[in-house]
Amino acid sequence: MNSGSNSNNNEKGVEVRTHDIPVADAMTEFMKEGWAPSPLTGISSHPSIPFTQLRRDKLSKQYVGKRLIFPSGSLKVRSNDSDYQFRANSAFSWFTGIVASDCVPDSLFVMEPTTSGHEALLFIHPRSPRNDSEFYKDTRFGEFWVGRRMTLEETETKYGIKVRQIESIEEFLKDKKETLLVRGEDSAIDKLVEENTESEKEFLNYISVMRAVKDKYEIDEMQKAIDASVRGFADMVRVFPAATSVARGERVIEAAFYGRARLEGNDNGYPSIVASGAHACVLHWIKNDGDVLPGDLILIDAGVEVESHYTADITRTFPVNGKFTEAQRKIYMIVYKAQQAGIAAVKPGAKFKDFHAACMVEIAKGAEELGVLPISAEESLKEENGLHRRWQFHGSGHHLGIDVHDCAHARKEQYAEAVLEAGMILTVEPGFYIQPDDTLFPEEYRGIGVRIEDDILVTESGAKILSNALPRHPDEVEAYMAKLLK
Ligand code: GLY
Ligand code: MN
Ligand code: MN
Repeated sequence: MNSGSNSNNNEKGVEVRTHDIPVADAMTEFMKEGWAPSPLTGISSHPSIPFTQLRRDKLSKQYVGKRLIFPSGSLKVRSNDSDYQFRANSAFSWFTGIVASDCVPDSLFVMEPTTSGHEALLFIHPRSPRNDSEFYKDTRFGEFWVGRRMTLEETETKYGIKVRQIESIEEFLKDKKETLLVRGEDSAIDKLVEENTESEKEFLNYISVMRAVKDKYEIDEMQKAIDASVRGFADMVRVFPAATSVARGERVIEAAFYGRARLEGNDNGYPSIVASGAHACVLHWIKNDGDVLPGDLILIDAGVEVESHYTADITRTFPVNGKFTEAQRKIYMIVYKAQQAGIAAVKPGAKFKDFHAACMVEIAKGAEELGVLPISAEESLKEENGLHRRWQFHGSGHHLGIDVHDCAHARKEQYAEAVLEAGMILTVEPGFYIQPDDTLFPEEYRGIGVRIEDDILVTESGAKILSNALPRHPDEVEAYMAKLLK
């Protein structure tokens, strides 16, 4: 920030950077006048409103008489005075519906208990008026530096929640009530609200499990995220020739997807995994600095997060040059069959853990057929053995939504052991990874890693593959690549 006087602190007590140019008092005065009103025009109610209202009603009934606080989170320093791109806390986003481009760091959403339930209150740092120097002096919040924010009234009109100035929060919180806070997002609020570890843990659990069954707004947003990601996968395949022609070609591919994520959405939903050759056997390969070699497979796990913060989570494994070798296809088909079996096990009434079990039967059978299991597949599938897991150590899927690993605070009985219901969205993502030094396999198989991941909606009658537009079968993958690369 900068200040009117030439001190090291501005009028809000924030340290001034040494490279900022001091503002003379005459200029401060001059900046107060000559500005036309610039209201936002054409603001309409956001389509999330009827849905966020229902979510808040349910929450209100669960926590009668308690004050509930959801911080948006604060900017996080990347280095010195540069921050990471801001991304709101998922619970804040889920209860307010505020989309990424409208979200202001350090906001708070409060459910304030009333005699009849709760009043929803949003505390934000609104647009600064022209008679306050913030608009041109404040590098973190000033309109000249970071763009226009909405006023209190504009925010209220768009999101249907009563909005107040964040500056009033300290005074507001002086009226002490039993409070539950999503802690760890806003250090200032953390200090103002007394901690109760047990009840906050229960609160996190409740609001996490609430998100398991998606409403229509969410399913539509998820489809948008997935459709954008499908276009992002095509963008990536198109740059394969460029990626093979330079060192660190994985970065070329990663950048192609990021372009799509920023164009159509808010960001990547998580760091893309672009894993060529044996990098595919590193489950969270996000360095993405490897060469891309024709003849290798490339495993890509990427998802666009749309403005509403919902994200896709899709993996495909491509032959870099457009044709699978025999060995590659053999491993690919094990994973393909495992995924088909997993998807078939997704239906209302089945348990969440059933689709993983279905995937693992195929993974074990595949390993048995390849002659690398020292015991039968049947024996291996027994809980006390699990030897086939050498080639798929991870689980076969998870809830997906506003977080890539959604509902993360659910307990085991609410997640793996729970029954699937229509409206849940899951990934099904088996894999088979043969480490480059796995001597149980002949040379030509070593370093092959395959994962296929799709996003599945549980429906009344079974399941719908929301990412079905992206081919999975190896013949279809080859045809798709040939079309994109011709
Ligand atoms: N992309 C993270 C996952 O597949 O779980
Ligand atoms: Mn996943
Ligand atoms: Mn993934």
